[in-house]
Amino acid sequence: MIAFQDVSLVYPNGVHALSHIDLTIGRGEFLFLVGSTGQGKSSLLKCVYREVLPVSGEVTVDGRPLSALRRGQVPFLRRKIGVVFQDFKLLHQKTVWENVAYALQVTGAGSRDVLRRVPRTLELVGIAHKSKMFPYELSGGEQQRTAIARALVNNPLILLCDEPTGNLDPETSSEITALLARINTKGTTVVVATHNQAAVDRMRRRVVRMINGRIAHDEERGHYHIGLG
Ligand SMILES: Nc1ncnc2c1ncn2[C@@H]1O[C@H](COP(=O)(O)OP(=O)(O)OP(=O)(O)O)[C@@H](O)[C@H]1O
Ligand SMILES: [Mg+2]
Repeated sequence: MIAFQDVSLVYPNGVHALSHIDLTIGRGEFLFLVGSTGQGKSSLLKCVYREVLPVSGEVTVDGRPLSALRRGQVPFLRRKIGVVFQDFKLLHQKTVWENVAYALQVTGAGSRDVLRRVPRTLELVGIAHKSKMFPYELSGGEQQRTAIARALVNNPLILLCDEPTGNLDPETSSEITALLARINTKGTTVVVATHNQAAVDRMRRRVVRMINGRIAHDEERGHYHIGLG
C-alpha cells in the first residue's frame, strides 16, 4: 500500500530529515513509527501525503509513484489518505457534524452522500451524541474523535496519525488507540507516529524506530524500546 525506495528528504534550509529510507507497508497493516524528537517521523508521514517531495528515491502509494504526480492530481491522492494530528486542527466555527461534512463536501460529494456517510462515521468513532457541539465545547478526546471522523469520512485506504494522543490523558489515549485499532480491523491501513510507550507496548504491533532520518529497527509485534521481548 505504501512503499519507500531509497528515499532521502532535505528541507530547503539544508536539514537532512530522511536518509535512504526503504520501507514497505502492506494493505491493512497497522504500524507504529517511534523515535525521539526530530528523528524524522513526521517527515516520513509528510512524504506519504505529498506535503513534501523527496530529493531522491521514490514513494509509492496504492501503486502510484508520487514523484510522477502532477500538482492537479494531489487532491486525488489525498482522498485515499486521512490524516490526524496531535492538535486536532478542527474548524472552530463549525460544529462536529459540520467539520466532518465539510471534508466530504470539498470532494464534491452531494447532500445525499453527506446525509448517509456523516452519521455513520460519527457513530463509528463514538461522537454522534455531540454532533451539534462546537470544538470548544468538547474534551480533548472528543475533539480527537471528531478529527478521526473527518479523516475517515471519505473512506480512505490509509489513515496517518501524527502523535494522535500527544495532548490526551492516559485513559483517553488508550481509548483513541483502541479506536485506531478498530478502524484497522475494518481494512484501513493505519500508521501512527507516537511517543506513547504504553500504547505501543500494549498493542504489540509492528514497530519501526527512526534514528537520525534512518530506520534503525523494524519489528513485528514490537515494543517501544527494542529488545525487550
Ligand atoms: N519544515 C521544515 N523545515 C526545515 N526543517 C524541518 C522542517 N520540518 C522538520 N524539520 C527538521 O527535520 C528533522 C526531522 O523532523 P520531524 O518533524 O520529521 O521529526 P519527528 O520525528 O516528527 O519529531 P517529533 O517527535 O518532535 O515530532 C528535524 O531536524 C527537524 O528540525
Ligand atoms: Mg513529529
